Amino acid sequence: MANTDHLFIKTLPSTPKPPARPTQALDKLLEEGVTWGDAALWLPRLPENSVDLFFTSPPYADARSYSRIHPDRYVEWFLPFARAMLPATTTTGSLALNIKNRVAKSGPLRGQRHPYVYELVLALQHMGWRWIETYIWDKPNAVPGRFGPRTKDAFEYVYHFAKGPQPIFNLDAIRVPYKTAPEEIERRKLRATPRKNTEAGFGRERSRTYVHGAADPGNVVQVAQTYNQHYGVAHTAAMPERLAEFFIKALSPEHGVVVDPFAGSGTTSVVARRLDRRAGGLEIHQEYVAVARKRLETDRSLEKRSEEVCRAD
Ligand SMILES: C[S@@+](CC[C@H](N)C(=O)[O-])C[C@H]1O[C@@H](n2cnc3c(N)ncnc32)[C@H](O)[C@@H]1O
Repeated sequence: MANTDHLFIKTLPSTPKPPARPTQALDKLLEEGVTWGDAALWLPRLPENSVDLFFTSPPYADARSYSRIHPDRYVEWFLPFARAMLPATTTTGSLALNIKNRVAKSGPLRGQRHPYVYELVLALQHMGWRWIETYIWDKPNAVPGRFGPRTKDAFEYVYHFAKGPQPIFNLDAIRVPYKTAPEEIERRKLRATPRKNTEAGFGRERSRTYVHGAADPGNVVQVAQTYNQHYGVAHTAAMPERLAEFFIKALSPEHGVVVDPFAGSGTTSVVARRLDRRAGGLEIHQEYVAVARKRLETDRSLEKRSEEVCRAD
């Protein structure tokens, strides 16, 4: 059999093992914010129905120095994590997965888009995860480069999967300001015949358009990519806080539990804690754990200071 070890991230021999009792494992994650450990070992130890939202950006196929997962084997690599997350998710809970396409570097598909993202989505759906929505993370500042017969990569996906038929979805928490000018909104509200049909007969009750005070943001989320922003040490794939904010606000309840199994520099935990969620994550590389913990600490002291300023005002 061919040696395929190099296709996977190996469990580092010294990575700490999870505690035997499930509640202890979850308590440790929530206490530490980001815990040094292999998600493959820790996720199966989490208590059933305990996590409201898994929000994560796993290593992309074949992309970074910290991982070498060949796109042909990506689904096989990811499925055990997904299988372990499913029972740990609450009945109203979700998995939001940030992932992006790649161009195949070798094999019969060389030079074409590799289908691993779509294969993974279908495999998760077959496993029992309910595929709720596909969001596009639109990156207005994506870096140009040489990409062959295609433009630069200016978007990534965030796939929303849910465990049950009625996942938490707080649209009001992510609404955005209306594009229409306030005076025009007022004028439209006063129309005697608010329903306006097209020639084909379709129409909308326009008087209800503005009852929510702000607009549905849609499933294209525009957030600028941030590069190497944390303490100079930098995780090369840190996600922008505003992206995490969007999904945590929409898909988890206040004081709920948010876990990122591939925590990197800890963006999910930092943002989730700021939003009054209980949050924890797992990271296999100890140096990133240190970065994440420092970030969490700094964020907490900044928050405390601004609370003090508010109280003093
Ligand atoms: C794309 S990065 C996540 C970046 C993160 N969202 C942030 O904002 O910094 C993926 C991370 O998963 C970690 N990782 C890979 N395999 C892992 C495993 N089995 N258990 C825990 N962490 C793992 C990698 O070391 C890497 O830091």
